[in-house]
Amino acid sequence: MACQKGKGIQRKWMFAWIYPPLLVIFILPEVWDCNAFHPWHSIILSHHWPETVCLMVKETCKIPPNVDYWTVHGLWPKKNQMCNNSWPFKEENVEDILSELEQWWPDVLHPNSTQLWKHEWQKHGTCAATLESLDTQEKYFSKALELYQRIDLTSVLKKFHILPSSNYYTLDNIENAILKTYGVTPKIQCLPPTGGSSVQILGQIELCFTKEFQLLNCTETAPSMLAFKNGRHHTAYLGFFECEPGQQIYYPPIQHVH
Ligand SMILES: *[C@@H]1O[C@H](CO)[C@@H](O)[C@H](O)[C@H]1NC(C)=O
Ligand SMILES: *[C@@H]1O[C@H](CO)[C@@H](O)[C@H](O)[C@H]1NC(C)=O
Ligand SMILES: *[C@@H]1O[C@H](CO)[C@@H](O)[C@H](O)[C@H]1NC(C)=O
Repeated sequence: MACQKGKGIQRKWMFAWIYPPLLVIFILPEVWDCNAFHPWHSIILSHHWPETVCLMVKETCKIPPNVDYWTVHGLWPKKNQMCNNSWPFKEENVEDILSELEQWWPDVLHPNSTQLWKHEWQKHGTCAATLESLDTQEKYFSKALELYQRIDLTSVLKKFHILPSSNYYTLDNIENAILKTYGVTPKIQCLPPTGGSSVQILGQIELCFTKEFQLLNCTETAPSMLAFKNGRHHTAYLGFFECEPGQQIYYPPIQHVH
């Protein structure tokens, strides 16, 4: 059942209008009921680095020729997933922003990006939709793109001389670039070193926002989004870990052929 706040209050309000002293009693329970449907308080804009996404999968991966920037992974309400099975994603609902989605939110793992958008909508969008500002597929995907345009990670890192290259960086380098630019600490995720290497690979950067879309420090991690494996945190999707502060970070140049 959707949150019937507006309707409910209207009904109670009429009642209160007839019996003014009952106003508080009848409006309060309604508001509490409503809050039960959106218990999340912050939302994460997740960017991923297409080259690293490709490095972590064995299947074919295709980075479109023009893509040499951080792309959107998703817009995720904290501590909340899979909220409404009966609200399927339909591409026609995002028709007006399809070319932007294809440009900034591509799915490098599948020839048709609709799969990623569908997944993101089912898992996260249906939970975000408890907010009026995100309660349609068009609003949800547009808001993600709007926040993504506000946070220009590719340029920020470049400005701080952090470039996809054979140079290595530290977690501090990357965190500081973002903190100095936006005044908040992001959550930065890497692929751990493999095969005797001691270098981790930069994969995902998350920025946190309030429900009013003001930037927030990403200090606490949402337990529901993490699995526990080998004693370390990693996100369930694709297996990124929080980057280790003591290890060098490789920011791999984009290869368009995999
Ligand atoms: C789930 O989505 C459908 C379709 O938009 C809607 O009618 C229904 O009220 C929603 N359910 C909940 C629990 O929000
Ligand atoms: C992706 O595939 C779906 C069918 O699975 C199709 O309706 C849609 O037009 C395709 N979208 C793009 C962008 O190619
Ligand atoms: C985030 O944390 C930094 C210190 O780590 C602080 O200077 C900054 O004001 C905080 N930003 C917000 C939006 O709370």
